[in-house]
Amino acid sequence: MSFPTVRHRRLRGSGALRAMVRENTLAVDDFIYPIFVTTGEGVKAEISSMPGVYHYSLDNLDEEIREVAELGIKAVLLFGVPDHKDAEGTSAYDANGIVQQATRRVKALVPELIVIADTCLCQFTDHGHCGVVRQLDSGEATVDNDASLDLLVRTAISQAEAGADIIAPSNMMDGFVHAIRAGLDEAGYEAIPILSYSVKYASAFYGPFRDAAHSTPQFGDRKTYQMDPANSREAMREAESDVLEGADMLMVKPALAYLDIIRALKENFDLPVVAYNVSAEYSMIKAGAANGWLDERAIVLETLLGMKRAGADLIITYFAKDAARWLN
Ligand code: PBG
Repeated sequence: MSFPTVRHRRLRGSGALRAMVRENTLAVDDFIYPIFVTTGEGVKAEISSMPGVYHYSLDNLDEEIREVAELGIKAVLLFGVPDHKDAEGTSAYDANGIVQQATRRVKALVPELIVIADTCLCQFTDHGHCGVVRQLDSGEATVDNDASLDLLVRTAISQAEAGADIIAPSNMMDGFVHAIRAGLDEAGYEAIPILSYSVKYASAFYGPFRDAAHSTPQFGDRKTYQMDPANSREAMREAESDVLEGADMLMVKPALAYLDIIRALKENFDLPVVAYNVSAEYSMIKAGAANGWLDERAIVLETLLGMKRAGADLIITYFAKDAARWLN
């Protein structure tokens, strides 16, 4: 038997042909840029494990926001690094909290820039957990699901009051989407979408972020609320409950080691899928580039394109500004 040679190379012969048959592309519209905002004045402090990423105090935020907007990036994700932490994370839902102030400032400066507020307590609690900690009879400490929900709802409403366009709860408490949806609706914010961190794994890839946000848990870990990296069918249950509870967009986090989960969400649900290209995914490439071991631009664009190909509609990435420059 003889087979004809299949001529795959016919469609690869020129740049124009390759462009015509290209299945996926990256565009600036795909990116969401995370920004860390802190208290104080005159602060622009580089995060040592994330070169090129800074903590900004409010007075230094304007320059960064203008740059982001000029590059054509449509949305920022705001993280607060407060000066006050306590057991109940009160600065998370303070009308004058750092995220609320930053939101007002960004919306005043560039009204059309979408502000996404990360709704969690871990940066604001002294124990560093994403909810309220309660002592069990056994003496063991646990994160109390339903008590945490009340505080998360308050946080989301105060972020909406400050002008946030999208609420992005990242706490992984059960029922958080339902509770926040109901709270927002009752407060008159039924038009504000929820971007749920639906499938968030208990991952070592958040290490540099926790250094940056000072949110490392002071005891234990997040494994009782974040997902086990070994599981994928459970990810479908997490996403399904968020859809039923009223989520408008679904996130998978981290992205690189979880491309199969991005693909599965894309195939099983019809909401936009968001990939979070997390801190250690950024740091690894930066470290390789700093050593001259890899071509940063090519590696970053290939990585982000891989996330699109896997099924991501949007990508939260610390590379957003660089990628926007390279694509423009
Ligand atoms: C807060 C939160 C975390 C990240 C985003 N929101 C850290 C965590 O869950 O420990 C990680 C982002 C990153 O690593 O880039 N819950």
